[in-house]
Amino acid sequence: MTGQSRIIDVDSGGSALIQRPGVILADPPWMESGGGHRGAQNHYPLMMTEDIAKLPVGQLAAANAHLWLWATDNFLPDALHVARAWGFRYVCSWVWVKPSKGLGQYARKMHEQLLLCSRGASSVPEKAWPQSVIFASKGAHSEKPGAVYELIEHVSAGRRGPRVELFARAARDGWEALGNQAPSAGGADIADQLWSRIDGRPARPTLALGL
Ligand SMILES: C[S@@+](CC[C@H](N)C(=O)[O-])C[C@H]1O[C@@H](n2cnc3c(N)ncnc32)[C@H](O)[C@@H]1O
Repeated sequence: MTGQSRIIDVDSGGSALIQRPGVILADPPWMESGGGHRGAQNHYPLMMTEDIAKLPVGQLAAANAHLWLWATDNFLPDALHVARAWGFRYVCSWVWVKPSKGLGQYARKMHEQLLLCSRGASSVPEKAWPQSVIFASKGAHSEKPGAVYELIEHVSAGRRGPRVELFARAARDGWEALGNQAPSAGGADIADQLWSRIDGRPARPTLALGL
């Protein structure tokens, strides 16, 4: 890794120039096909699983960290692969239950799965354990409910360092938003944004967003 001295792990102490995040939320643009005009490909560019797995999330995250990873049904095995590639182990899942059915194969989906993965010392005190189901209404295409951020802030309250959302589309207090549709990202590719956070190089904006 280049510029390693610029980023300091909060778990190892010291005053950090750039603190390594202890909480990472990712909602990757899995390469879902189908869905016709309602399909994800008509809303934003998609990524191959191996390109997601190669992102330097493991280099960015603190040694003791939680990764919260959205997984569509088709890409559940890929999500577990990505979590491992980023240096995390799968712990458990939450389910977001929606009030009405959407797209799907074999079943019309009324739910989405959010995986909690961890690395290092990252247990959660039993008194902080919430129920595993979130009931919340749908927003825009792929938009996740605000209740999920409250859940993460509650369960991961003990993690040190900043919280980072990958593939974000909106800003949220207490979170850094990265992604080509994130506010002030200028359409930059997620890999460039991550590397710029790690080694201090400015992220190159992507010329064509491909939308
Ligand atoms: C599933 S959506 C995320 C939705 C978000 N969680 C929300 O609640 O609105 C995936 C996002 O990843 C972005 N994206 C796709 N390819 C990207 C890339 N190479 N670099 C950065 N962002 C990318 C898409 O533009 C889209 O905003």
